Amino acid sequence: MYLDEYPFLPSKNKRDEGAFLDYIPTEYSTNGIGDYRESCLDVETLNGFTATQLSYVSYKTVKGKKKIDNLPTSFGNPEDVDSLIITCEDKYNRLKVDLIYSVFKDVDVITRSVEVENIGENPIFLTKVYSACLDMENKDFEVISLHGSWARERHVECTKLSHLQYVVQSTRGESSHQDHPFLALKTSKTSEDCGEVYAMNFVYSGNFCATAALNQFDFVRMTMGINSKDFKWKLNAGEVFATPEAVLVYSSEGLGKMTTTFHDFYRKHLIRSPYLHKERPILINNWEATYFDFDSDKLIDIAREAKNLGIEMLVMDDGWFGNRFDDNRSLGDWKVNENKIKGGLKSLVDKVNEMGLKFGIWFEPEMISPDSDLYREHPDWAIGITGMDNTRSRNQYVLDLSRPEVVQYTYEQVAAICRSANIDYVKWDMNRQLTNLGSSYLSADQMGELSHRYMLGVYKLQDMLISEFPGLLIENCSGGGARFDPGMLYYSPQIWCSDDTDAIERLAIMEGTALIYPLSTIGAHVSTVPNHAVGRVTPMKTRGDVALFGTFGYELDVTKLSDEDKKCVVAQVELYHKYNELIREGDYYRISSYRENGEYECFGVVSKDKKEAIYIYLQVFRKPNMHSKRIPLRGLNPDYKYFVEDTEQELPGDVLMNVGINQPILDSDFSSRLIALKCI
Ligand code: DGJ
Repeated sequence: MYLDEYPFLPSKNKRDEGAFLDYIPTEYSTNGIGDYRESCLDVETLNGFTATQLSYVSYKTVKGKKKIDNLPTSFGNPEDVDSLIITCEDKYNRLKVDLIYSVFKDVDVITRSVEVENIGENPIFLTKVYSACLDMENKDFEVISLHGSWARERHVECTKLSHLQYVVQSTRGESSHQDHPFLALKTSKTSEDCGEVYAMNFVYSGNFCATAALNQFDFVRMTMGINSKDFKWKLNAGEVFATPEAVLVYSSEGLGKMTTTFHDFYRKHLIRSPYLHKERPILINNWEATYFDFDSDKLIDIAREAKNLGIEMLVMDDGWFGNRFDDNRSLGDWKVNENKIKGGLKSLVDKVNEMGLKFGIWFEPEMISPDSDLYREHPDWAIGITGMDNTRSRNQYVLDLSRPEVVQYTYEQVAAICRSANIDYVKWDMNRQLTNLGSSYLSADQMGELSHRYMLGVYKLQDMLISEFPGLLIENCSGGGARFDPGMLYYSPQIWCSDDTDAIERLAIMEGTALIYPLSTIGAHVSTVPNHAVGRVTPMKTRGDVALFGTFGYELDVTKLSDEDKKCVVAQVELYHKYNELIREGDYYRISSYRENGEYECFGVVSKDKKEAIYIYLQVFRKPNMHSKRIPLRGLNPDYKYFVEDTEQELPGDVLMNVGINQPILDSDFSSRLIALKCI
């Protein structure tokens, strides 16, 4: 017998249709009214109710896009950007919700963010406010995400989308080494050059949650937003909560096009630094050369030798302040240790400048050591819960940047140092994650705001630094690459990619990072061997060739290099000046990944006008008795003829791309070749 209305099925009866939302594509889903997929907006009222129901009110379109208060936001001229604002209302909870979308003339991206306003008389708690939701039919999707750990950040992972919910998230107070605020759905047939991809990236550096799943009807939902774990925002009458922005990219021309779109978007519409389109000074950082064991004499020795080799900036890393002879103390005491830096900072910087080098300095402004004068004076300035043992990590605590006076104090410490000498560069580090979420500043009903307020504090600090020192080159960093995200790119044009400087380990790290971020943002240095992270010995040439595809610099004791290695440095410096503009401004192409083929890596960059290109071929393992191979290149103009610099051949673009370039077996494991092409 057939029933008129089966239980647990969408109703045929108009009246009950809205009770079964799982089968309706929803632009921005809310909690508790019948859509049991991942919701985007959850609340808690003073009466303890959690359901929320939005209905459409109106829409408007405007030229340009609004800056999101206190948050990094993509930008564009009003002539190049159009925004759509859809206003909805929850009549019961008295919320006005604006869904904000922007599209860009020159790059195929949609950004999304949300503003929630309390239009009622009572406070309400927001317990989840995501930035974007995408419902669609399944196209035999696979999920791409980036996973990692310290020293092996952002490795590409791909798995079939199923009815299990796929959740990529950080609850660590930063975007993290482990997971990345990025998620893409590609069809199983999508390759580098063809097929569809839907991707989301998040312009935020704190806790995030990205989800994708198939529901009972095989519909797909994909979401992105601030993680709701430990999040509870008290919204008083008249107040507005604005979410960070999600960047949505669709490509019908494969993963390659997705990557180019993200790269172009970030270079054109997110990174503000005046250094974005400039050749950055080749730096030498003393961290791996000396760790904490240095003084100004040692730095001067390094600088002198570096200058002889063509290096352009000395960066003094951790250990120059307070009693910082190891990582157990002094964070927060930003006073130069004059036993180490004899005569003070200005004297050192002046000497380095006189040699013809710029000077950069390291800070970890967000932290406080239990063994510091600052902590002894202000124990309540550390995030923690009174009476509970505060978790130590690298023997340090995190400053409570939800507290305005702490932000102001911290800024003054950093700025005073920057004002005291001719500082051209700041490396802004952050070496632990958040725990024991308690603030002596926030009231009990605002404690759930701590992690987000912390991020707002970090952004404020970096904004202040940029405003006072607009010419400063900032490199963000977090124990390597734990905060390599679009939020940070808004403040710094480059981010230290990983503490793993091994040329081979860097291949997978760079592959994942460059899946979304331009090469010009990827902090990459040549370091010593055996490598400090993995003990591997690779040729100096290979280390230089790999670092060339990032910001390029050195992180070793140049005074201890052999004459042969010094010659290699001089040659690498020359290559950097020759190819940096191409690598910085061009289009990046993946050719073949060692992760997939187990033997070699090949990727490259082609100028926008297709007249120049440079690729790296890196033979990770030399297989016995193997013949040379042909590597089909990507990104060239098939109708152009190219001159191959190392072999001095002249070859047409279509041959190079379809037949491939001849690649002989190189002498040994870990050898590399740079393949530079010029259109004739
Ligand atoms: C972690 C960074 O990633 C390193 O490069 C170095 O700056 C250390 N911190 C210093 O403590």
